[in-house]
Amino acid sequence: MSQQEFWNSKFSRDGFLYGIKPNTFLASKIKLLKRESDLLCIGEGEGRNAIFFSKRGFNVSAIDASDIGLKKLEQRAKEENLNINTFCQDLNTWESNKKYDVIVASYLHMYREERAQLFEKIEESLNQDGYFIGEFFSTKQLDFNSGGPKDEDLLYTVDDFKKSFLYCDKDISEQEVILDEGKGHQGDACVIRVVIQKL
Ligand SMILES: C[S@@+](CC[C@H](N)C(=O)[O-])C[C@H]1O[C@@H](n2cnc3c(N)ncnc32)[C@H](O)[C@@H]1O
Repeated sequence: MSQQEFWNSKFSRDGFLYGIKPNTFLASKIKLLKRESDLLCIGEGEGRNAIFFSKRGFNVSAIDASDIGLKKLEQRAKEENLNINTFCQDLNTWESNKKYDVIVASYLHMYREERAQLFEKIEESLNQDGYFIGEFFSTKQLDFNSGGPKDEDLLYTVDDFKKSFLYCDKDISEQEVILDEGKGHQGDACVIRVVIQKL
C-alpha cells in the first residue's frame, strides 16, 4: 500500500485525526521566526500547523502525499479566509525549486533509508539562517501506546538528525511528553524534537 493510500484511508473519516490545534512544540517556536516569511509544512496531513502559521501572518505552503488530507486543509483555509499553497506530492520525489525561511514537520514517518535524501533536500531548500523545526516519534515510542507506527524503521533517534544537516546549528533532544492531539495521539510518548538553523 502506498503512503497516499494508507493516509487517505485514515483521513477519510470525519473530523481531524490529530485535532485542529497545532503541534505544541512547533507552535512554541514561533518566537524564533519572522512574520511574513515563507514557511513550508512537510507531511502536513489535514493542516493543523499550516492553519496556525497562516493565521499568524506567514506565507504558508504545505506538501503531503494525501490528497484527502490536503482537501481538509484547503476547506479549513477557505472557511478561515486564508491563502495556503498545497502540493500533493510524495516527499521522496519532491524537488524544491524555491527556498524557504522555515520548514516544519510534525510526525512525518519516513523510512530510515529515505531520510538522508530528504534531510539533504530540506537543508538545500532553506535560506541562510532559516529554520527546520520538527517533532518526530523516537524509537522508544515502541514502549508507549499513545500513537505512531509500530515499525522501528519509521521511528527516529537523535543520531538520525546529528549525522545530517552538516552546515547547520542543531538543537536535538529526546523527550518524554504527554500528547493531547485529537484521537490519533493521546497520552505519554517519547519524541525527538529538533530546532535546526542553516548557517
Ligand atoms: C502522522 S501524519 C501527521 C500529519 C501532520 N503533520 C500532523 O501532525 O497533523 C503523517 C503525514 O505524513 C504524510 N507522509 C508520510 N510519508 C510521506 C511521504 N513520503 N511524502 C509525503 N507525505 C508523507 C502522510 O500523508 C501524513 O499526512
